[in-house]
Amino acid sequence: MVVAVDGPAGAGKSTACRLSAKRLGFAYLDTGAMYRAVAWSLVEQGDSLTAAENVSNQLSRLPLHFGIENGSLVIYHGARQLSDELRQPEMAGWASRISQIPWVRAYLTRWQRRLANAADIVAEGRDMTTVVFPDATVKVYLTADPATRARRRFLEYRAKNIEVDYTDLEAQIRARDQADQERSLAPLRPASDAILLDTSALGIDEVVDRLVEIIRSASTSGAPQ
Ligand code: DC
Repeated sequence: MVVAVDGPAGAGKSTACRLSAKRLGFAYLDTGAMYRAVAWSLVEQGDSLTAAENVSNQLSRLPLHFGIENGSLVIYHGARQLSDELRQPEMAGWASRISQIPWVRAYLTRWQRRLANAADIVAEGRDMTTVVFPDATVKVYLTADPATRARRRFLEYRAKNIEVDYTDLEAQIRARDQADQERSLAPLRPASDAILLDTSALGIDEVVDRLVEIIRSASTSGAPQ
């Protein structure tokens, strides 16, 4: 079973999907981390992101491997496991930038479908409901107003002792929304059959409760939402 969740940065997708997947015994697939890993890998290998945009296919040069272990996505670059390096603030902009490259999207779409074959999964990102899993059993679009999303990201960074300026962060979130929504390939938009969940006024527990309720009712009715 695939639960597909899309939405903009800071809508609460990662936490809500991770906790809902855990409650249901599903695997959790954070596809934003996969885009961050491609950006990280290109830079690690000394490629400029502009070069990546101009070269049609560099897959063979990326020593990336993705898997699901204990219900979570694991990412290897050669023998090195990637995690915290992908959460640095500059990675978000890099990931958004390389996510517009056709070969990157095709490469990660293939990986995402392969990972979903191995387990029941809650997959979150920008194009889960529209492109990668158009036949998902449950489709949800999670959103919140931009100021709420910027405040959440700010608190997340502060909790990790990462220095960011709130005003810059809000401007970056708005710019990234625009880039993700306006790109020609797999733009962020709600699928016509997705359930809309606005989390602006909800705490994380309420979001998880609501998401689990939506998933349970869809799986018992057996009908695509
Ligand atoms: O969810 P995130 O903030 O980690 O995602 C980082 C960027 O990756 C996001 O701005 C756009 C891109 N992305 C994408 O294009 N498609 C996805 N399914 C997930 C992320």
